[in-house]
Amino acid sequence: MIQICPVPKQSANEASLGVAVQTRRQFLAQTGAAVGGVGLGLGLAPHVFAQSSGANDRVVLGLIGCGGMGRADQQQLMRLKGVEVAAVCDVDASHLDNAAADVVNTGRPAPKKIKDFRQLLEQKDIDAVIIGTPDHWHAIPFIAACEAGKDIYCEKPISHSFVEAKAMLSAARHFQRVVQVGTWQRSIKHFQDAIEFVRSGKMGQINVCRAWMLYGLRDIGRQQPQNPPPELDWDFWLGPAPKRPYQPNRCHGNWRWFFETGGSLMTDWGVHMIDIVLLAMQQTDPVSIMAAGGKLTCNDDRDTPDTLLAVYQFPKWVLNWEHRFNNVRGLDGGSEHGAEFIGDKGSLIVDRNGYQYFPETPDVEKPPKLEKRESTHWQNFLDCVKSRKQPASDIGSMAKTTMLCLLGNIALQSGQTLRWDAQKQDVANHGDVKHCISYEREYRKPWKLKLFKG
Ligand SMILES: NC(=O)c1ccc[n+]([C@@H]2O[C@H](COP(=O)([O-])OP(=O)(O)OC[C@H]3O[C@@H](n4cnc5c(N)ncnc54)[C@H](O)[C@@H]3O)[C@@H](O)[C@H]2O)c1
Repeated sequence: MIQICPVPKQSANEASLGVAVQTRRQFLAQTGAAVGGVGLGLGLAPHVFAQSSGANDRVVLGLIGCGGMGRADQQQLMRLKGVEVAAVCDVDASHLDNAAADVVNTGRPAPKKIKDFRQLLEQKDIDAVIIGTPDHWHAIPFIAACEAGKDIYCEKPISHSFVEAKAMLSAARHFQRVVQVGTWQRSIKHFQDAIEFVRSGKMGQINVCRAWMLYGLRDIGRQQPQNPPPELDWDFWLGPAPKRPYQPNRCHGNWRWFFETGGSLMTDWGVHMIDIVLLAMQQTDPVSIMAAGGKLTCNDDRDTPDTLLAVYQFPKWVLNWEHRFNNVRGLDGGSEHGAEFIGDKGSLIVDRNGYQYFPETPDVEKPPKLEKRESTHWQNFLDCVKSRKQPASDIGSMAKTTMLCLLGNIALQSGQTLRWDAQKQDVANHGDVKHCISYEREYRKPWKLKLFKG
């Protein structure tokens, strides 16, 4: 069985770097090399980090962001032996109550309920945090958690902007934190088997890959600004995003349809499915990226594209991302999400239900018999917190997957074909994109993106 364990290249003296807050210019210049060294190789010796303060048989967690996925991650981790939850944190008191009740319902003691994540991070007894906030609220608590010496289970996409992804990777490396990102497909056997089969060369030459997510009509409506509910601190919820009047259809769950807080399906699901393509093809540096689409289906308040085709040109193959909202019919009438590899000897489609292989010739060797299993992603995180090894979805490779997905949105926002500078790990025609919100956004005061040497 393959082991998916990407190992970022680090300089020998990296661990001994002193804490240094940098200017943005210094930071971008240095992180080109740091991210550039990130490979997606399998089976390499795991990198050993410094031991965290409290890692022993018991792992004490704190949850930041108690919505849909934060609670799901907490539930998954509470199913495992030796996990305690000391505190939960949310800017919506009703979500806080729900997450605290989840803990009590397992027979564990009631966790502290905290509104401000900075207070949660001050708690010395917490070894690791789950970050389940909306995308615009990942980078700040993530970097603060690194500074506080916590390990992190961070939801995907790791960041809201390209610049944040680099900053988060640098902070994690600087403070030698174990970070698992929420791309839990990586820890499912049938995805691993499919990746291994694609890598085996048995499908011949693969020139085209496709990844997609097709939503049915999901309209978030048009709403007027209104007073936020008393249990929600709306200003804190907005945080570094621009000040906007409260509307329910911009808030819980729906933030992903607005560029100031999310990146629509390009990042929401692209990060899951494009990730599988990059792992299988073992290449993460495209030559160029272009995109077409727009708000073509939904007549609602969103400002992100409901229809998007993004094309990534690699030296010897092409990746096509597609998302749309008007029709859920997948390839060959199949699943509404997935990744497909098209080789001259056959094609393979993989999704969360399994994989299918379509040989061009009948005598070609087939992939292993489908064995569908539960994801071991949360157990893998726990094991790595204890062993200090890199988890299956380590921040190194997930920063890269996130950056590539963000580039799809950036290509659409800029209207330009992006040229990729693999050496600098940045857009070569930088002047065309620096104004794009998915590249770099201005933070609303008092929030700041802290930069550390990676
Ligand atoms: N891995 C997966 O399969 C998967 C699935 C769904 C969502 N996600 C990811 O999980 C994250 C959360 O998505 P969701 O659908 O659960 O969103 P959600 O809106 O349901 O939950 C977000 C929660 O964060 C809280 N929050 C906002 N600002 C906060 C702050 N400053 N401090 C503390 N809490 C704050 C909100 O009040 C809300 O309770 C996103 O990054 C999303 O992409 C991952």
